[in-house]
Amino acid sequence: MPALVTRVDQDLPKGIHRFRRLPDPELGKLWDSIIVDEHLKQRLLSQAVLNFTLRGQVDRSVIPLHGAILLIGPPGTGKTSLARGVAHRTAVSFKNGRFRLLEVEPHTLTSSAMGKTQRAVSDLFSQSIAEAASEGPTIVLLDEVETLAVDRSKLSLDANPIDIHRATDAVLVQLDALAESHPNLLFLATSNFPQAIDTAFTSRCDLVLQVPLPNRDACGRILKDCIAGLGKTYPAIGCLSSSPEFDQCAAECVGLDGRAIRKMVATALASTPETAMDPARVTIADLLAAARAVKQSRIRRGKAT
Ligand SMILES: Nc1ncnc2c1ncn2[C@@H]1O[C@H](COP(=O)(O)OP(=O)(O)OP(=O)(O)O)[C@@H](O)[C@H]1O
Ligand SMILES: [Mg+2]
Repeated sequence: MPALVTRVDQDLPKGIHRFRRLPDPELGKLWDSIIVDEHLKQRLLSQAVLNFTLRGQVDRSVIPLHGAILLIGPPGTGKTSLARGVAHRTAVSFKNGRFRLLEVEPHTLTSSAMGKTQRAVSDLFSQSIAEAASEGPTIVLLDEVETLAVDRSKLSLDANPIDIHRATDAVLVQLDALAESHPNLLFLATSNFPQAIDTAFTSRCDLVLQVPLPNRDACGRILKDCIAGLGKTYPAIGCLSSSPEFDQCAAECVGLDGRAIRKMVATALASTPETAMDPARVTIADLLAAARAVKQSRIRRGKAT
């Protein structure tokens, strides 16, 4: 079997949907595009770097690091982007470090056939991930980790729970085994449903970071970043940030996540068929109306659920 590093995406082991060599400047741009409290980024990066400096040097009986970081927070707040970005930034921190990033697709592991999920999870960790970590420093993105490390205390006896129960057991066993055998491995897990994650998984994480909805200042910066990006193609749009109504527009975004704010700008570009044909025509009034409409529809949906 060829080494994992030589495989292309289509030929990856089951459960891994993407493989990248690091550093990757595209992920650096992604890191920069996520506007959160600088302290949060520094905390995340420091923990990721420490993973690779300390774990190979200090015995686990002194500091029992597992090599796992969990990012939790509402949908669309930048967790996956931060995880990918910090993988790049960690690789940049080590000169000549030949890091790689593996992205796990949990849904391809969960199978309706009894026993298959546990087997697939075990194989992924003990073979594919262990093999990659043997070849050099490896970062593994476990997106939507609540589907793999399901809270066993909340499982009811429908929907094949024994298999899911065993899959969680397998994740925990494998995490422990890899923590012992592969100090050059770091798991970056994300979830927007932390109450569904098994507490034994959370307890193994070296850092749990809450990624919040953007505050008023961050909303303004995300909006500005989005407008500046569009301004590269449509210079007239770039001027909207200095409009007197801009602050009002940013204030309307409070309560929305970063993804929703960027999508709201697209909604403004689609205000009319004419603007959609020529996005440079978008006005600050269109942006304000789109922000209000998105906010209202969120409030209505919130009331309906
Ligand atoms: N804080 C932010 N600053 C700027 N852009 C953001 C921010 N949060 C989210 N975005 C935008 O939203 C997009 C989606 O972000 P991402 O997929 O990383 O969120 P997520 O938290 O992983 O969401 P989910 O929980 O739904 O998986 C990003 O590509 C980015 O453009
Ligand atoms: Mg995500």
